[in-house]
Amino acid sequence: MPGHKRMLQRGFPDPYSIDITEIEDFDNLHHPQGVIQEEQERAAGIYDSKQCYFLINGSTCGILAAISAAVPRGSRILIARNSHRSVYNACFLRQLQTEYVYPVNTRSGLQGQVSPRSVEKQLKAFKDIKAVVITSPTYDGIVSNVEAIAEVVHRWGIPLIVDEAHGAHFGLHDAFPENATRLGADAVIMSVHKTLPAFTQTALLHLCSDRIDPNAVSRFLAVYETSSPSYLLMAGLSHCMHMLETQTTRERIDSYVRLLDNFRSLVKGLSHLKVLGTKDFLRREIYDLDIGKIIISAGDCGLNGAELKSALLVRYLIQTEMASGGYVLAMTSFMDTPRGFDRLGNALLALDEHCTPDEWMEEPLAPVDIYRDQEKCMELYEAGDAAHEEVTLAEAAGRICADYVYLYPPGVPILVPGERITEWTLLDMEECKKTGLIVEGLLPSGGIEVVKIR
Ligand SMILES: Cc1ncc(COP(=O)(O)O)c(C=O)c1O
Repeated sequence: MPGHKRMLQRGFPDPYSIDITEIEDFDNLHHPQGVIQEEQERAAGIYDSKQCYFLINGSTCGILAAISAAVPRGSRILIARNSHRSVYNACFLRQLQTEYVYPVNTRSGLQGQVSPRSVEKQLKAFKDIKAVVITSPTYDGIVSNVEAIAEVVHRWGIPLIVDEAHGAHFGLHDAFPENATRLGADAVIMSVHKTLPAFTQTALLHLCSDRIDPNAVSRFLAVYETSSPSYLLMAGLSHCMHMLETQTTRERIDSYVRLLDNFRSLVKGLSHLKVLGTKDFLRREIYDLDIGKIIISAGDCGLNGAELKSALLVRYLIQTEMASGGYVLAMTSFMDTPRGFDRLGNALLALDEHCTPDEWMEEPLAPVDIYRDQEKCMELYEAGDAAHEEVTLAEAAGRICADYVYLYPPGVPILVPGERITEWTLLDMEECKKTGLIVEGLLPSGGIEVVKIR
């Protein structure tokens, strides 16, 4: 990220010359009636949605607004446990009662799809759920069956909100999964800046049905977004949408797909490192995969994920997106060049050839089972607002967590405020730290914040 890969966009003006405010004829993001409205309609046309909102505070503000508009304050919501922080923050701000649906844990340790059946099970168990939120694709590019989940959710007469932050390129070519905007989702939020050529912080919120009130969405966007929206960011967004409509871009996406294919053929020669593709996963574990995400498993090459990431950076000057236990994730976009793909492929082949293999080394890609079903003792907003105190990890078992604890990346919580801390979770956290993973949410002292006992 960002998807523009720092490439100057042809035809884009001097940034200072377009950094204006709501002057005559330049419309207003919070009450669009002119050029901004036209550009939002263009984006809705590209993704076949009913209504599209330009966002300049990232998918974050779109997720906050969609949930706030769809779910009355204090009511119940079903969210995928692998949701981004913004989903949890929406639940906190709106004082929602949260129920979770867990993604399948794949044998490789990556978090897999959210199954339609697990969504249905929760909807049957909690009849007053007002909306469902899932993430598809995930940071790793794992896609759930949005169409089947939407079908289940609509049987309960409630909306499905899809966090598609990593999928703004979906539906633009047959090689990528279809976009959730065409699969029955009611609201879809996509970070254009992540996988398409647009400035950081630019995103789109699409409404695709009448199940969420557009006026409520506008009202909440005015709460969560700056009152001084950047025309530079908005111009970047509309430049990107215009690009998507051109034949040149369609050809560029075709050649991007060929580059991804060629890259995967080149790295077939690896003996110790592995580049994962769809065939490595069972259909039961994932529904589909974004081929634009390149997951490089360290295999038995004698390095863990963090060491492999560092070797790529230090020895080959290649900046990858993230490392986890046993893998590195490289994010691509149609702005990547043939030379970039060659450099990555050749760096992997060279590392593979000169590695010191360790046949005992091969571990799951990510810690398996760490995202277990935790006991909820309080709603997350109750725990967040309650008085807190600090305890050491040795004293923490049995106490109620007051903050999020998560591995970063991918930023998915292991513990949510209001959940009981167990011996097992503490052991898992220790294990993660030993393998070089970053456990966030602990205090600088190494302790943890818990709800104060009165
Ligand atoms: C799955 C997911 N959802 C939402 C977001 C928030 O997106 P943004 O950075 O555009 O606010 C992120 C950011 O990394 C993400 O990974």
